[in-house]
Amino acid sequence: MLPWVEKYRPRSFKEIVNQEEAKYALASWICSRFRAPEQFCKTWAKSKDISGAKAVLLSGPPGIGKTTLVHALANEINYELIELNASDVRTSERIKEVVGRGLREGSLFGYAGRLILFDEVDGLNPKEDLGGLNSIVDLIETARVPIVMTANNPWDQRLRPLRDISLVVSLKRLSEEDVVEVLRRICNAERIKCEEDALRALARASEGDLRAAINDLQLFAGGKSTLTVDDIKKVGERNPQLSMFEALDRVFRANWFDEARSISFIPSFDWEQFFAWASENVPRVYKDPSVAAVALDRLSKADIILSRIKRMGEWELMPYMTEIMLAGIALVPGKPRLPRFFKYQFPQRILMLARSRESRRRRELIVQYLSQELHVSNSYVSSELLHVLSFLAKKNEKILEDLGKRLSISPADIKGVI
Ligand SMILES: Nc1ncnc2c1ncn2[C@@H]1O[C@H](COP(=O)(O)OP(=O)(O)O)[C@@H](O)[C@H]1O
Ligand SMILES: [Mg+2]
Repeated sequence: MLPWVEKYRPRSFKEIVNQEEAKYALASWICSRFRAPEQFCKTWAKSKDISGAKAVLLSGPPGIGKTTLVHALANEINYELIELNASDVRTSERIKEVVGRGLREGSLFGYAGRLILFDEVDGLNPKEDLGGLNSIVDLIETARVPIVMTANNPWDQRLRPLRDISLVVSLKRLSEEDVVEVLRRICNAERIKCEEDALRALARASEGDLRAAINDLQLFAGGKSTLTVDDIKKVGERNPQLSMFEALDRVFRANWFDEARSISFIPSFDWEQFFAWASENVPRVYKDPSVAAVALDRLSKADIILSRIKRMGEWELMPYMTEIMLAGIALVPGKPRLPRFFKYQFPQRILMLARSRESRRRRELIVQYLSQELHVSNSYVSSELLHVLSFLAKKNEKILEDLGKRLSISPADIKGVI
C-alpha cells in the first residue's frame, strides 16, 4: 500500500498549502534566470526582490513541504528533476553526465531542462561529506542548470559557503489549521468519516510537521471507515507505558534479590525509561525520606555506570548497572509495606522534555543565527546577547519581527524562548 505522504504529495504549486512567500521567491528566481513557461511565471513570479543568486537554499523544520516544493516546481516548469547527494558530486562522472553534455538530451523525453536537488544538505556527515559540500559549491559556481537545496537548519556553521552563494528561502511552520485542512482532504479522498476533534488532536501533536500528521492519520484511520477521538486516545495509552508500570510494580514489591533482578531479563528493555520512572516514583513509594534517600543514592550510582556504558561502550558493566538499579531500590532497609494498588506517576521530566523540545529547537536556531551573523560564539549569544535582545525587543517590537522573518519563527514564539 502506498504511504499516504506519497499518495497525497502535491504535484503542483497550487496544492501546496500556505507557503506562498516561498513559492513566489522560488518562481521569481527560476523565471529570472532560466527558461520557464510564461503562464507559470505570470502566476507565481511575484517576488519583488529578484535575486542574482546561483542557487536556492530552502529552509525550515521537517514536514512542511520543502522537498515537495522542489518536485512541484520541476513539474510546473516541465524540467527533469535530478536528485543528487554529496557523494555523487565527488564522483565527477555522474555530474558531467547530468550537467554537461546531457543538458540538451533531456528534451529527448520532452523535458525543457533539468533541475538539480540536493535534499537535506545539513544532514551530511561532516567527516565524510565535507569534500562533498565543497564540490557542491564548485558545481553551483559552474553549472548552468538550476540547483535547489534543502536544509532544516540553514544557519548550520558548515553550510556557510553554500549559504553565501545562495538565495535562502524560508518556509513557514504550518499552523494547526493548515494541518487539519490537509488531513481533512485526505479523509475525504479516502472516504473516511473523520471527527473534527480527532484531526485537531493529530494536528496538535504534530507541531506543524505535516509528514508526521499524515503518517499518524494513516496509522489510526487507514483501512477504516471512521476515525473518532477515542481511536486516538486508545492508542495514545498503549502498552509500553503499561509494561513500564508493571515492571516498576514488580521491582518495588520484590523482597528478594533475584525477584528484583528478573526484570533485567526482559529483552530490549528500555533502561533509560525505567530509570526515569524509578527516579520519579521512589519518593512516592518510600514516603520515609531516609528510606527514599537510600534508594535514590543507589539509583545515582546506577546512573553513573549507565552513562559510562553509553559513553565508552563498556557493555560488560551492564549487569552491575541493572543489579544496583533493580535490587538497589527493591531491598532498602526499613522497607514499608506497599498498598495493594499503587498509582505510579509518569516521569515529569520526560513530559517536560517533550513539551519543551520545540522551544529548545527554536532557541537553538536563534542562537546559531545570531552567532553566525555577529561572529561570536554560541555560548556568548546564549549567556549575554539574548538578554540584550529581549531588552531591545521590549523597546522595539520590529526587531523580533525582522528576526522572525529570517528564521520563520513567529515573534511571539521568539519572545517565549529568549
Ligand atoms: N505545505 C504543504 N501542503 C501540502 N502538503 C504538504 C505540505 N508540506 C508537507 N506536505 C505533505 O507532507 C509530506 C512531507 O513533505 P516534504 O515536502 O517531504 O517535507 P520536508 O519539508 O521535510 O521536505 C508530503 O508528502 C506532503 O504530503
Ligand atoms: Mg524533505
